[in-house]
Amino acid sequence: MLFDLPEDLKDSIVFLNGSYMPMSEARVPVLDRGFIFGDGVYEVIPVYARQPFRMDEHLRRLQYSLDGIRLVNPHTNEEWTRLVLGLIDRCPHDDQGLYLQVTRGVAKRDHAFPKNARPTVFMMTNVLSTPAPELVACGAAAITAVDNRWLRCDIKSTALLGNVLMRQLAVDAGAHETVMIRDGWLTEGSASNVFVVRDGVILAPPKSNLILPGTTYDVVLELAQANGMRTEIRPVSEDELRSAEEIWITSATREILAVTRLDGKPVGSGAPGEVFRRMHRAFTEFKAQLRRAGHA
Ligand code: PDD
Repeated sequence: MLFDLPEDLKDSIVFLNGSYMPMSEARVPVLDRGFIFGDGVYEVIPVYARQPFRMDEHLRRLQYSLDGIRLVNPHTNEEWTRLVLGLIDRCPHDDQGLYLQVTRGVAKRDHAFPKNARPTVFMMTNVLSTPAPELVACGAAAITAVDNRWLRCDIKSTALLGNVLMRQLAVDAGAHETVMIRDGWLTEGSASNVFVVRDGVILAPPKSNLILPGTTYDVVLELAQANGMRTEIRPVSEDELRSAEEIWITSATREILAVTRLDGKPVGSGAPGEVFRRMHRAFTEFKAQLRRAGHA
């Protein structure tokens, strides 16, 4: 083997271009445009009790991202479902975080699209790692930064350098996430959507080209509606963010997490707020229902 893979992953089964194989045997040519240009898109699908959660929504967003980079979907939704379930079956864990990506394939290096390249399809899955109970109970620290990413943040692109640099800023500051602001308006986190609570109302920045349309974002708004919690989908200003009663971040893997310190200052009381606790209970109950129904 040319490179060392993490010990705990090398025997895990991955999917590459039509075959399942141990990760240590999976090979992608160096001219793959995913490697050379970050020319690809991806999805992260949580799996609860061996059932992919919101599969249709993830496949819809995948199609949207593929359309956004003008790449033909290499599989029908039926094929994707079969392949994803096949990978879930080959993983020992009941709850998994499944990653899939499609790149524009292997071609001589040239920025323009190659004529005859075949997309590279890769999937891996591992035990779902959700936030530790203490983090959920106490909340996380976040910092803010100016959103300097491109103007197609609605495409779930594997070209994540902007997000990677943002996330590292948080780590360098001993924080969990970087919350981004563009032209005085809240956009999203480096790898999460952001909600704000003011006057007891859950505020969500509207979906646009400036944020990723999160699947967990949709779940939160649906749960709010089902539980009679007030929501407003509208732009949130930097001032509103900084003086919020509560701030939450959401993603497929972090689920819903309260931000209790922003740039070193307490958010609200400095502990996860009342509205968060209600939403988190609703989310936990919702997951328990899915498990009971055997269909997440
Ligand atoms: N990221 N915004 C960004 C920039 C993200 O990277 C993510 C998730 C989200 C939330 O989307 P969802 O609720 O569908 O997970 C919003 C994934 C988890 C990742 O890159 O690992």
